[in-house]
Order: sequence, then C-alpha cells, then structure tokens
Amino acid sequence: MVTPPLLHLEAVARAVRLPDGQTLEILRGIDLTVYEGAHVGIVGRSGTGKSTLLNILGLLDRPTAGHMLWDGAPTDRMSSRTASTTRGAQIGFVFQQFNLLPGRTALENVAHPLLYGTATDVRTRKKRAREVLEQLGLGHRADHVPNRLSGGEQQRVAIARALVRRPRLLLADEPTGALDVDTGRLVMDLLTEAAHASTAALITITHDPAIAARADRRFTLEGGVLT
Ligand SMILES: Nc1ncnc2c1ncn2[C@@H]1O[C@H](COP(=O)(O)OP(=O)(O)OP(=O)(O)O)[C@@H](O)[C@H]1O
Ligand SMILES: [Mg+2]
Repeated sequence: MVTPPLLHLEAVARAVRLPDGQTLEILRGIDLTVYEGAHVGIVGRSGTGKSTLLNILGLLDRPTAGHMLWDGAPTDRMSSRTASTTRGAQIGFVFQQFNLLPGRTALENVAHPLLYGTATDVRTRKKRAREVLEQLGLGHRADHVPNRLSGGEQQRVAIARALVRRPRLLLADEPTGALDVDTGRLVMDLLTEAAHASTAALITITHDPAIAARADRRFTLEGGVLT
C-alpha cells in the first residue's frame, strides 16, 4: 500500500469578512504536498498570510475553499474534537515568542503536553521530558524557569516541548525571529536535526530567506499563492 502524504492541499483559500462588509482573500489557491521526513521552507513578507497558512496546516483554522487532506483524510469532514486531539498528539508548534509557561521550570514546560491524552505517570513524563531537553543540549538547565534562560535557550525549551509527544509534523512560525543571527543559526541547526532524527515533517515559515534556505524544498508566499 502506498503511504499517503502527511499533508495535501489543493487550491486552499482563506478569506475573512471585514467589519465594513468587504471580503479579504488572504490565501487564494495554495497547492502543497508534504511527506513525513520532509523539510519545507516558506518565505513571505509581513502580511502575506504566513501565520494564516500555518494555522490551517496546524488544524487550528479551516480553509474557506479548496481541499485539504491530513494523512489521506479530508479535514473538512474532521470534527473539531478530532482536529484538536490530532493536533495535540501529532503536531508540534514552535513560535517566534517561545510561549513558555513563566512560573514553570524548563522540565515542567517540556513535560506539560504529556498531561493531555497520554496515560503516563509523572515519573515517566519527567523522564521523557529530560531526554528531549538533553537532546537539545539543555539537560543542565532543566530546573531553570524561563526568565533565567537566554532567548536561544528558551527557544530550545520550546522546541523540546514541541517534540516531546513525538509529533509527525513540526510547524515553526518565525522560530528565529526573536534571536540574534548566530543564536538563530544554532536554533535552526537543532530544530532541523531534531526533526530529522524523529522523521517528523518540518515546515518553517519565515520572512528570512537565509532560514528558508535550509529547507529541502522552498516556496514563496505572495498574492495568496505559493510559488
Ligand atoms: N481575522 C482577520 N481579520 C481581518 N484581517 C485579518 C485576519 N487575519 C489576518 N488578517 C490580515 O491578513 C493578512 C495576513 O495575516 P498573517 O498574520 O497571516 O500575515 P503574516 O504573513 O503572518 O504576517 P507577519 O509576517 O507580520 O507575521 C494581514 O494583512 C492581516 O492583517
Ligand atoms: Mg505571522
């Protein structure tokens, strides 16, 4: 049997109704096929619809037209409950602003997604969280809270948290946007390596062509389409 692509989009559009009654077509016809293990880079200037697209790819939002298949199944027939459990178990997100829980240690932040949908005890959760932190070179920072960590370290914690449930898809929205160039490079190396080691597909969305250049396949988002 042929394995279906993890994601398949055909003529996906996303429009929003503005308060003045006009319709804004943010995405007009996105065609994209992504297999597990792939690394796709999408570049686009500010306001071109990158985050809008990422929300659709991450099952946080739905297209207003077109077709999307997740693992061979049409997402328009997916209940919001299934979308939410699929997202929790199979998709990891990395954002520009890290989005860590401020009062929790690095280890607690990474272990947090394991509380949902998995029947593991606290020791098993912490063991798995420590393993992923170590993979990202942060074993020695496990007990630090986010504001005691550098930006690059916080983003590595966020990457560990995205990986902890062994997702099949990693979505990164401007993952280096809040970091200096050298730290950004290191974080991208770690993200790419981690995705590779786990066979997850990685989609990196950025305005920085140098970051997108690390992907195996690159697209530009402009005028609501990918080229
Ligand atoms: N719900 C909405 N209602 C109205 N306009 C919206 C809505 N969501 C997005 N937009 C508009 O659609 C465009 C694309 O937004 P989006 O956030 O996807 O861009 P982006 O490429 O991620 O930008 P940035 O690089 O600045 O993060 C923007 O002009 C934005 O203002
Ligand atoms: Mg954005």
